[in-house]
Amino acid sequence: MSRICAAIDALSEVADAVKARVALLYSLVLILGALMFPRVLCPVMFSQRTQWNFTPNRFTEVHREINREAREVLDLTLSNPTRAELPFDGEAILSALAHPASLDYDPQAKGLLTARQCVAQYYQDYYARYCAQYHTQPPATPPVSPESILLTTSTSEAYSYVFRLLCNPGDEILVPKPSYPLFDFLADLQDVKLVPFPLIYDHGWQIDFPSLHRSVTDRTRAIVLVHPNNPTGSYVHGPERSAINDFCRQHNLPLIVDEVFLDYSLDTNLQATFATNQQNLTFTLSGISKISALPQMKLAWLVASGPPSMVQLALERLEVIADTYLSMNAPIQYAAPVLLNQRLSIQPLLLARVRANLEELDRQLAHQRHCERLHVEGGWYAVLRVPVTQSDEDLAIQLLQQASVLVHPGHFYDFPSDGFLILSLIVPEEIFRVAVARVLQVLSV
Ligand SMILES: Cc1ncc(COP(=O)(O)O)c(C=O)c1O
Repeated sequence: MSRICAAIDALSEVADAVKARVALLYSLVLILGALMFPRVLCPVMFSQRTQWNFTPNRFTEVHREINREAREVLDLTLSNPTRAELPFDGEAILSALAHPASLDYDPQAKGLLTARQCVAQYYQDYYARYCAQYHTQPPATPPVSPESILLTTSTSEAYSYVFRLLCNPGDEILVPKPSYPLFDFLADLQDVKLVPFPLIYDHGWQIDFPSLHRSVTDRTRAIVLVHPNNPTGSYVHGPERSAINDFCRQHNLPLIVDEVFLDYSLDTNLQATFATNQQNLTFTLSGISKISALPQMKLAWLVASGPPSMVQLALERLEVIADTYLSMNAPIQYAAPVLLNQRLSIQPLLLARVRANLEELDRQLAHQRHCERLHVEGGWYAVLRVPVTQSDEDLAIQLLQQASVLVHPGHFYDFPSDGFLILSLIVPEEIFRVAVARVLQVLSV
């Protein structure tokens, strides 16, 4: 009997060993199979360009946890003006969307002429205000022709069209750093490589021209400027503008200029638009997401300017790109005059709020010695320089956990080092005041 039991034990040991080997072999076959025949084992293959890291960072995780607890958080990252307690003229906006002509489908690759005329009018008005500031006479002809305008649903879409126009896969675009984080995704989706050139801070932000020149390779296809930049709030001023034009001529590069915040100059002086730049092929991008604080309406555009023959060649190609998607919808285009005119009432309110919040920030900063705000000229954000006792991300997490205040760490915008927080200035004044007090309280400990 015991011999039979021993034999059974021996047999089951052998069986276990065989099972373990089979399992090991099976795993090896799976791994090898996955490497050699990926399509057989995983029928859906995703492109390299979408191989993003989907693991949320610690800051996002903590934020989600706090949201789950339904804890009230003061949001100093607010960038959505429709949630900023502003008195929009709802009736005018909604009734503009009911234009009877919207029942007709008139596919126009560049967008409906009436809507483009109204964008051209925006530039004419801006130019007139700019000239009045310097007591000069605006030219008799409009500075921007409707023919040089192409409508898109967003500035992001306009970027995509221009990247598609200028770049083959792997080509390079020069972008300022720090700047707006969406660029990385836009570039990934268009198979374009971004090459950052630094903005340096020395009593104000400046383009680091020596670095910019060193960044050029034989794959460079364009340079992006953000005028004023998000989040540094710095404009490209006259002398820099000339130097950039020289740089573009020298390297035969077109300019892509993002002017979504152009109108939000914090002192009383307006800065010149690049939409009238004739010195190099220039694509100026903007839209009503910031101009009229109406991001939900999805109306943006690009203006092509520069040597006329180049502009014409570029527009011909852009028109085919736009014609492939025809993404503009009729109600928004017919509503364009009303939507763009909303800027006349909303911009003064937003500017007053941004200035008031900046003043409040300075008032509170005057009572402490730990941090300072960097010089800002335009836009909706302020940069706070803080002591580097931990990473910016850890500091933002600490502020969320201890003070229930949400701020963006500088590294979200590619600041070159720790020690920077970004604060939105379009937050309602009372919330801004309390939130800043809480931030400074944590920083003072
Ligand atoms: C500098 C800059 N450009 C473009 C955009 C996006 O604009 P749009 O809503 O028209 O895509 C933003 C959004 O915040 C921005 O900050």
